[in-house]
Amino acid sequence: MPDRLLDLRSDTVTHPTPEMRRAMAEAELGDDVFRDDPTVIELEERAAELTGKEAALFVPSGTMGNLVSLMAHVARGGEIITEAESHIVYDEAAGHAVVVGASARTIPARDDGTMDPGAIHAAFRDPADPHEPLSALVCLENTHGHSMGQPLDAAYTAEVGAIARERGVPLHVDGARIFNAVVALGTTVRELLAAADSASFCLSKGLACPVGSIVVGRREFIWRARRARKLLGGGMRQVGVLAAPGLIALRDGPRGMIERLAEDHLNARRLAEELSQLPGIYGLDPSRVRTNFVLFRVGSAQTGTAQRAAFLDALARDGILMVEYPHGQVRAVTHYGIEAADIDRVLRSCRSALAGVGDRLGASVA
Ligand SMILES: Cc1ncc(COP(=O)(O)O)c(C=O)c1O
Repeated sequence: MPDRLLDLRSDTVTHPTPEMRRAMAEAELGDDVFRDDPTVIELEERAAELTGKEAALFVPSGTMGNLVSLMAHVARGGEIITEAESHIVYDEAAGHAVVVGASARTIPARDDGTMDPGAIHAAFRDPADPHEPLSALVCLENTHGHSMGQPLDAAYTAEVGAIARERGVPLHVDGARIFNAVVALGTTVRELLAAADSASFCLSKGLACPVGSIVVGRREFIWRARRARKLLGGGMRQVGVLAAPGLIALRDGPRGMIERLAEDHLNARRLAEELSQLPGIYGLDPSRVRTNFVLFRVGSAQTGTAQRAAFLDALARDGILMVEYPHGQVRAVTHYGIEAADIDRVLRSCRSALAGVGDRLGASVA
């Protein structure tokens, strides 16, 4: 029998747990556009309580969660200040520009995934100058994907929140993987989001739900986000079937899916530690693996792209999937369904893929 597929392309590939599937089948339903789906109402109340915000909104995706948040915060012609490779500007089909009518002023991330607070200060426009867009929102991404999933701590978020407040604009946190940050930092989501006016987080990634994200914030903000969701066609009907697994994911303790993210972090760290020892892998400092992302390069700076493709093909033939990532990198993401023993198999395949890559391209990967 062929080995089971180990899909490390993303934590979005997770399937719901058996308990989630049962809960979906048995969920009590209503019509959520009429606001009478009890399962959705319960999930939104739980999310608001957990994050310490007034209200919450269930949306189909993280992308829509960010987009409705931007629509609720930013008027046409406004400008968002955000990290240069944040998902909001890099990976969401320019929704900020196309739908919201907002420009983006971007600041590169430092190694720890943060933007320099001084640069955030400097990014604000002069509201008295009619040439300039109006600074309207600051966004953070936590965990920060392109810096290998670095968690941003509460002190940093508070510092950025204070800058935003001083300049009279709100702070939105794209917290697609905020619970990975919570677990990595040993804190609570309330603490991490205390300085944020709004946040979105995904149920469909490491928390293993099949679909869905949540937006949290003040009641009046959530009302505007709800209108924006309707405008985008995101008003859903008997959507308690999708909210039911979210209630399991967000439970406290071992009955929920938050605590177990620590296993994914351990698996990612061990994968990185052993990968970094292999000839042909470079650009990987395992001490930077703090959550569930492992980013690395294959071959050398000169030969990397061809070797990366050959490496990924060889792994795929072995039933292991990783994915190309910007700047010539490979990404492997650990998640529910990938066990510690699977990491051994991944490492064995990486070793033989690297050997094959060197042979086939006639270049040493040593
Ligand atoms: C940081 C971040 N924000 C938002 C999203 C969007 O989530 P979705 O794929 O559910 O639209 C992702 C997806 O990978 C993400 O990594």
